[in-house]
Amino acid sequence: MEITAKAGQIQQEEAALIVVNLFQGVKTPGGATGAIDKALGGLITDLIASGDLTGKLNELAVLYTRGAIPAQRVMVVGLGKEEEFDLDKVRDVAGTVARKVRQLGVRSYSTIVHGGGKAGLSVKMASQAIAEGTILALYRFLEHKSTSDEGETEIEQLTFVEFDAGKLPQVEAGARVGQVIAESVWLTRDLVNHPPSVATPTMLAQTARQLAEEHGLRCQILDEEQMAELGMGALLGVAQGSQEPARFIILEHNADRKDLDTIVLAGKGLTFDSGGISLKQSKGMEQWKIDMAGGAVVLATLRTAGILNLPLHVVGLVPATENLPSGKAYKPSDVLRSLSGQTIEIISTDAEGRLILADALAYAQRYEPQAVVDLATLTGACVVALGHMASGLMGTDAELVTRLKRASQTTAELAWELPLLKDYYQQIKSEVADVKNSGGRPGGVVTAGAFLSKFAQGYPWAHLDIAGTTWIERDKLYPRRSYLPTPGATGVGVRLLVQFLRDWAQA
Ligand code: BES
Ligand code: MN
Ligand code: ZN
Repeated sequence: MEITAKAGQIQQEEAALIVVNLFQGVKTPGGATGAIDKALGGLITDLIASGDLTGKLNELAVLYTRGAIPAQRVMVVGLGKEEEFDLDKVRDVAGTVARKVRQLGVRSYSTIVHGGGKAGLSVKMASQAIAEGTILALYRFLEHKSTSDEGETEIEQLTFVEFDAGKLPQVEAGARVGQVIAESVWLTRDLVNHPPSVATPTMLAQTARQLAEEHGLRCQILDEEQMAELGMGALLGVAQGSQEPARFIILEHNADRKDLDTIVLAGKGLTFDSGGISLKQSKGMEQWKIDMAGGAVVLATLRTAGILNLPLHVVGLVPATENLPSGKAYKPSDVLRSLSGQTIEIISTDAEGRLILADALAYAQRYEPQAVVDLATLTGACVVALGHMASGLMGTDAELVTRLKRASQTTAELAWELPLLKDYYQQIKSEVADVKNSGGRPGGVVTAGAFLSKFAQGYPWAHLDIAGTTWIERDKLYPRRSYLPTPGATGVGVRLLVQFLRDWAQA
């Protein structure tokens, strides 16, 4: 989809469809909506008076102009109550509009910048949010379908029409950023949605290589031999049962810039989690392809950092492997020697995410980073604790955690802090090794965090558990937003991390 911006009055636009808005409770609309109402002889006022149009959030009315203005159709979208309005409402209404426009079979439309100047939002933020909401809502995953029952129309063109010509550069800049970010979320969703025999460790590595080529990143892929040389015994232990070769992916933006702050992002790239010898139940096994979502987010975030040319040295680390049972698989009671030198007793081969991340976190040390953030579909316990509404957030550095919370608020990718306490170390103390990989059921999300913290040494570190937020099932309760899929991969984490990096670069 192409997004452009122009200066002008939307009621004078020649377009198949133009989009304006209405706050809830407004009886006589002003601005562009008011101008169109006048041109249509008070049609919108009539709709409001009759109660057919209320301005409720995401409410839509499609009007036919019959030559009264150059546009064929007007879509009025409800913004909800003005006092409740915020950036995420902009994304939400933009997505609602986009889905309806596509359903109408319209390929090109124009919109005003909903919310610019309201609730403290700049037109730049608002246009970014519209681009994001629009593109995210239009996502579908059709790669493995021979036919689609949803219709084949794709929207080709969206034009922002800004009344104040002086603000046009900001509208354009916001739209561009929003588009780049949303397309990165698409990449993540694609990778997560793909079947596990497509999205293998090799395929993730190949994707990283291609991103490096397209966006000027540095890419290095370690194979199992190289991992063994380094001593990545935890990652290799998990990989042992699989026929798919494991990969350790390193993707860097501004690799040569010693002058910039270094941020390492590490993502769990477990391309299929059967549980291994501690085999999961067969019911619902198809969901375990999503276990590489953290890794997919890291790749997409590096893509974004490259395209937006963020003034930071950003390092993406993705330990990628399957977790399968076989005659060669690692076993409960095995002891693995991790890259950090710490030995790990295996209680459950299904607690594999923390093992592959342990080696990634130890590897991160060599960059002497200002911060390390890891993302992982790490624990079912996180889903028990927070449901599907928020990711779990933990960290060793209050400042870093605060930055992530702020980015979480800006992007509405909710993350909620959980405690990282030394007392939990008791639960992962091993009789035979330095640490064990499971602390049992109580506090499963925070003992997993405590485990990771033993390997995240020598730098400020934070961890996001995205187990509950990375995938939406049809009948589950999750944040109702037009721009989230039902069902499918959300791509959660990309927008949050990109915001975190952009804020860091600005500070
Ligand atoms: N990948 C799972 C966690 C998960 C759960 C992801 C739900 C997405 C949705 C992880 O590898 C796992 O199996 N964790 C175990 C740990 C336990 C054995 C200590 C779990 O949460 O049950
Ligand atoms: Mn597991
Ligand atoms: Zn897992």
